[in-house]
Amino acid sequence: MPMGGARRGCSATLGYCHLNVSPRKTSPMTDTDTVESAKAKSASETSATWLFFKRWLADPISMASIIPSSPALRRIVSKNIVCGADEVVVEFGGGTGAITRAILEAGVPAHKIYSIEIDKELAEYLQGVFPDVNVVHGDARQCDRLIGETNVGRVGTLVVGIPMVLLPLKLQQEIVDAIFRVLPDGRRFLQYTYCATSPLPIRKLGLDGRRLGFTPLNFPPASVWGYSRAT
Ligand SMILES: C[S@@+](CC[C@H](N)C(=O)[O-])C[C@H]1O[C@@H](n2cnc3c(N)ncnc32)[C@H](O)[C@@H]1O
Repeated sequence: MPMGGARRGCSATLGYCHLNVSPRKTSPMTDTDTVESAKAKSASETSATWLFFKRWLADPISMASIIPSSPALRRIVSKNIVCGADEVVVEFGGGTGAITRAILEAGVPAHKIYSIEIDKELAEYLQGVFPDVNVVHGDARQCDRLIGETNVGRVGTLVVGIPMVLLPLKLQQEIVDAIFRVLPDGRRFLQYTYCATSPLPIRKLGLDGRRLGFTPLNFPPASVWGYSRAT
C-alpha cells in the first residue's frame, strides 16, 4: 500500500483511492486565537453538519443520522481506543470526521489512523480536514487490501461507524468477516449505535459483546458497544 506523498493516487484493481485535496483550516483554539479564528471554526463545523445532512438526504440508510456524532459520544469512543506501539487504528465510515477526532484525542498519531469512507464527497472532505490521516475512499469490506498488507493483524482497535443494525444479516456477516481478517485475537471492534440493545445479533455473528458506555447527549442518544470473536 503506497504511503505519504506516493499514496495520493487511485487503484482501479484494488478498488481504493487515496485522496489528493487541500487541507482545511480547523486547528484547535489556542491562547492567541482571535474572534476571526473562532468564526472560522464555527463555519467549519457548520459546513460539516450541512455536508452530513446533504449526504443523509442522498443515502439515509448509509448515514443513519442527520448530523455528525456529538462530543459526548466522541469521549466514550476515545476512552475505549487501544493502540499498541506497533499497531494502527482503523475506522469504517469516517463521515465528516467526528469519530476520527475521537481517535486523535485518544493520543493516536494521525499517520497511524486509517479511515475508510465509501462516499467520495465525504472522503474528500475528511482528507481535507485531516491531511495526515490515511483516508481511503472505498468499501470497508475490502479493508485488508485498503489498509495495506503490513497493517493486517496489527490493528489495536477498529471503530465501526457504518450503521450495521440497518443492514441485512448477510452484509453484517461480510463486514464482521472483513474485520476479523485484520483484527488480531484479543483486540476488539467498537460500534456506536442508537439502539437500546446490541445493534448486532451476537450469537448469529459468532461474537462476544458488551455495552461500554451510553450518552443521552447525542442526537439521537447513543451507546458504544465493544465486540470480539466469541471464545
Ligand atoms: C452514521 S455515519 C458516521 C459518520 C461519522 N463517523 C460520525 O460519527 O459522525 C456512517 C458513515 O459510514 C459510511 N459508510 C457506509 N457504508 C460504508 C462502507 N461499506 N464502507 C465505508 N464506509 C461506509 C457512510 O458513507 C457514512 O459516512
